[in-house]
Amino acid sequence: MAKKPPKKRAPRSNGRAAIRKKLMEAAKTAQKNAYCPYSRYPVGAAVLTDSGRIYTGCNVENASFGLAICAERVAIFKAVSHGEKKIQALCVAAKSAKPCGACRQVIIEFAHKEAEMIYLDWQPLEKKEKITITKAGKLLPHAFDPSEAGL
Ligand code: THU
Repeated sequence: MAKKPPKKRAPRSNGRAAIRKKLMEAAKTAQKNAYCPYSRYPVGAAVLTDSGRIYTGCNVENASFGLAICAERVAIFKAVSHGEKKIQALCVAAKSAKPCGACRQVIIEFAHKEAEMIYLDWQPLEKKEKITITKAGKLLPHAFDPSEAGL
């Protein structure tokens, strides 16, 4: 029997671009579920875990304002509650999207330093969008590190 030709692998960069696209679409879709009657600032987030699964989240506000939770933390806590504690990449989608300080501390708890952070600055009714890509290791200089504190 003739030998099967070797499978062609897509170049690594293509795979990464496809995953980025999937993550950004997931964050945009999640943003549609934002519950934000007080701020009127909808946010969507999506995290890619080590298993290759994607977990999404949106911001959820409350009449008692301090109880609001950000989209990023919803997505991360969903992943962790499914036993997925390693984040490979995260995307946050909103107008001028960037994770807040509290979310940054939560992100670095579960993401390795090289994990990709994608900020998708867009508004649902506008066509243009701006993508910024950085690494988890850059999110929080001088972050609290429990291992340094002997915890
Ligand atoms: N918010 C997020 O969901 N993620 C961020 O990165 C920044 C802020 C939410 C919290 C609140 O519901 C609204 O945006 C305004 O602060």
